[in-house]
Amino acid sequence: MRVFVTGGTGHSGSYIIPELIAAGHEVTSLARSDTAATALSALGAKVRRGGLEDLDGLKEAAADSDGVIHVGFRRELLPSGGINAVTAAELSAVLAFGEALAGTGKPLVAAGSIGSPGWEDLGRPATEEDPALPGGDEYGGTLRVRNVVETTVVGLAEQGVRSSIVRLPTIAHSTTDTAGFLPLLIALAKEKGVVGYPGDGANLWPAVHIRDAASLFRLALEKGPAGSYWHAVQDEGIPFREIAEAIGSRLGLPAVSIPADVLMLPGHFGFLANMVALDLPASNLITRRTLGWEPTQPGLLADLDNGHYFAAG
Ligand SMILES: NC(=O)c1ccc[n+]([C@@H]2O[C@H](COP(=O)([O-])OP(=O)(O)OC[C@H]3O[C@@H](n4cnc5c(N)ncnc54)[C@H](OP(=O)(O)O)[C@@H]3O)[C@@H](O)[C@H]2O)c1
Repeated sequence: MRVFVTGGTGHSGSYIIPELIAAGHEVTSLARSDTAATALSALGAKVRRGGLEDLDGLKEAAADSDGVIHVGFRRELLPSGGINAVTAAELSAVLAFGEALAGTGKPLVAAGSIGSPGWEDLGRPATEEDPALPGGDEYGGTLRVRNVVETTVVGLAEQGVRSSIVRLPTIAHSTTDTAGFLPLLIALAKEKGVVGYPGDGANLWPAVHIRDAASLFRLALEKGPAGSYWHAVQDEGIPFREIAEAIGSRLGLPAVSIPADVLMLPGHFGFLANMVALDLPASNLITRRTLGWEPTQPGLLADLDNGHYFAAG
């Protein structure tokens, strides 16, 4: 398949491209700079120069391909416009892909988030059959704003696009994870001299090795039915306290409870405070059964134990 990939230089994209090429696909990826172009060539991709803001360019690239994987993420909009600006930009991009692919039956696979079906009321692990809740501030604040991207992508199935969403957990780990949630937690622990966990730390966090997530993107592209959600979770839910303790034992720091009643006050977790208490167990059963996905990489605790997150620096 000739696959167009956005975000090919990013954490997930840089694993997705080699995964696709190893499976015999031809990859073209978007580069907005010389640095990105060089990195994409090194991964074995053809380079298409341009940015995610060029919607006509995205449509052209999609029309020239047999399928699209969209993991580009306009982080640069966060400081000025926040998550709403990133979401608006992402929505424009997926709608452009939808326009180019409508009626073709070609695949469009985009990244979503474990947690999009909500967390307060499920009372059980989320499954792939749980739809994303409506997005927007009125539905629970900024954490759900991006849900509109998921529902839009999945909705493109009705327009003849074989569209699907790969939901990623907040912890996507690897030896090249420098900007994800774990590096933030580790930096915070070093700064505070303790590794905090919320309340009793029993809230569950799923995780995936990004190399395994990359193989799921490929499988969804190759054979995912239209209008599907997939769960890129390997660890279906690890108590936050165990994650804190694993980090603490590597850093030689104590893991300590941050009581629930002070969690949202300015203090230990800073801007992460509204995330750390989430309880987001998620099942991967439908994903494994339908697509034959089997994670092969180290789980989160084993990967933390590998030590690469704690190299000097
Ligand atoms: N834990 C997780 O990783 C996680 C969890 C949930 C959801 N997700 C979602 O998964 C997706 C991929 O995440 P990631 O961690 O792989 O992202 P990332 O590492 O931040 O990579 C972002 C990619 O987008 C590209 N990009 C940014 N702005 C661009 C622009 N204007 N034009 C062209 N390319 C541009 C970057 O290219 P440059 O090299 O040019 O900067 C880079 O390749 C995102 O939608 C993210 O929200 C991730």
